[in-house]
Amino acid sequence: MARLPVGFIVAACTALAALHQARAQTVAQGTVSSTADSIAKYREMIADGNPAELYEAKGEALWKQAAGPKQATLARCDLGLGPGVVAGAYARLPRYFADTDRVQDAESRLMTCMQTLQGFDAAELINTPFGQGRKADLVALATYVSAESKGVKVDVQPRHPKEREMLALGRRAFYLQAGTHDFSCASCHGEDGRRIRLQDLPNLTTPQGAAKGWTTWPAYRVSNGQMWSMQYRLNDCFRQQRFPEPVYGSELTIALSYFMASQSSGAPMATPGIKR
Ligand code: HEC
Repeated sequence: MARLPVGFIVAACTALAALHQARAQTVAQGTVSSTADSIAKYREMIADGNPAELYEAKGEALWKQAAGPKQATLARCDLGLGPGVVAGAYARLPRYFADTDRVQDAESRLMTCMQTLQGFDAAELINTPFGQGRKADLVALATYVSAESKGVKVDVQPRHPKEREMLALGRRAFYLQAGTHDFSCASCHGEDGRRIRLQDLPNLTTPQGAAKGWTTWPAYRVSNGQMWSMQYRLNDCFRQQRFPEPVYGSELTIALSYFMASQSSGAPMATPGIKR
């Protein structure tokens, strides 16, 4: 990966030091408000040099670069607004696509384009671990596509019967309690003011909370120095939920995204985001 600008590293280190200090103070004072304040400050400090922009640039280059067995670019990829139209497309995803007869999110749709236009093997893409090879490329592509919707209002409302099915499935999946801890998504994301390890957990069942959780992904995660897409985010939450690992781009993951996106309709996209 390209090297981070020095200014960013300095700002991030200063902010981290402030965060640790505030954390120590918090323990001493027994309050949480100063921690929340310092996290907000830390976000503000690092937002100026969001490394996500490097992934955005990588994604744009990948979009325009001939690749795969067919040595083609993604210039004719249809993300829902017509072949090659990227601006505003992410804000309308997930949506129904007639050619695949499926409701698809940005990543599964990009995967379809990489398969049909460039000749890549979808199964291989699905099974590549996050952060590696073509999966990292897919995340960079999703970052680029999402950034082209920055400021555009989310518009995900079921119009096609399969979209209605997806919304219903997503809602059911969100509230399904199962696994060794009997957790559902709602166990951690169904109430205001919940937090785990200093991280405020948005209440994804409200429009404001869903917007916070949906419109800021893909996001750069400072804690592990990686760019995470929504599929990556969900994968990690399945782990936290003690659920089996979901298949990349599967119906279930798209349904959950559909549920969150539809809840966020009307809120402007704020990608790429930056997170703890
Ligand atoms: C055991 C608790 C737990 C469960 C269950 C859980 N999550 Fe999460 N989720 C987290 C934590 C913790 C974070 C923040 C992670 C971090 O930044 O360290 C998070 C973050 C998120 C975010 C990003 C929020 C933001 O502020 O940007 C989304 C979206 C999300 N989860 C969706 C889900 C969905 C959908 C499910 C159900 C499949 C789920 N989560 C289940 C704990 C959970």
